[in-house]
Amino acid sequence: MKTISVINLKGGVAKTISAANIAHIMATMHGKRVLLVDNDKQGNISKMFGLHSYNSRTVAELLTDREAEIHDIIKPTQYKSLDVIPANMTLLKANLQVLLDTGRPQQTRLRAAFKRISDEYDYCVIDCAPDINISTINALVASDDVIIPIKIDNFAFDGLAELKEQIDIVRDDLNPSLTLRGCFITSYQNNDVNKQGENWLRENTEYPVFNTHIRRTAKVDESTFANLPIIEYSRWCGASRDYIALVSEYLESVSESDTTGGK
Ligand SMILES: Nc1ncnc2c1ncn2[C@@H]1O[C@H](COP(=O)(O)OP(=O)(O)O)[C@@H](O)[C@H]1O
Ligand SMILES: [Mg+2]
Repeated sequence: MKTISVINLKGGVAKTISAANIAHIMATMHGKRVLLVDNDKQGNISKMFGLHSYNSRTVAELLTDREAEIHDIIKPTQYKSLDVIPANMTLLKANLQVLLDTGRPQQTRLRAAFKRISDEYDYCVIDCAPDINISTINALVASDDVIIPIKIDNFAFDGLAELKEQIDIVRDDLNPSLTLRGCFITSYQNNDVNKQGENWLRENTEYPVFNTHIRRTAKVDESTFANLPIIEYSRWCGASRDYIALVSEYLESVSESDTTGGK
């Protein structure tokens, strides 16, 4: 199982939309077995797939209960080979609980839980909260790859250096194979601001950037009201085509680096 964290310290940049749609496209168009993890107390992924509840267990238990049976926490979706680990507001308390529980390692709990299912999925996609907390550190420690959605505005690059630093710290201390696979522009509009922002990112060699950007399409907002992945809601809209291209680009970059042994 290859694990990908979708992360940015900013909210509203399409982390959740990207995680959900990348996972859905991997499962339904590429036949991959995919586990989508809601790692944000807002529970937006869980809501999208009709799995938000206070009666079932969530990612919070994977952080706090070492006896938690991950198979009982994973929920199937209506889509073939796409499963979800849900989240809800209990994740807030779980983060504090982990910090207080110094009796066992605090940063490797998700990784330990995922080890038990690593033969059952090809990909695990984690939708992270816009924060560096114990949940996001656990996600980075459990991940092979990080991808960063960026929405161009005046503050688009705020926090990017801090995020890169966190990724470097996790790589140095706990997860040597962690790879910043790339950034990609979301809600792209064909205007000067977006073009300049994208160029800045490409010329700044510190951050790898995917060739594909995701066009701004009103259908994306509509798809969230319909609780549908974008290609189910509007197969031929710009954002659908772009997410399909992004997944292909990602899968190609992964297979290239696997064959060259590079990162
Ligand atoms: N390509 C797009 N075109 C138009 N709206 C988009 C696009 N991607 C995301 N959005 C909208 O942006 C908002 C934030 O997306 P979301 O995935 O919830 O962000 P985050 O998880 O980073 O907070 C949502 O209302 C979503 O519908
Ligand atoms: Mg979100």
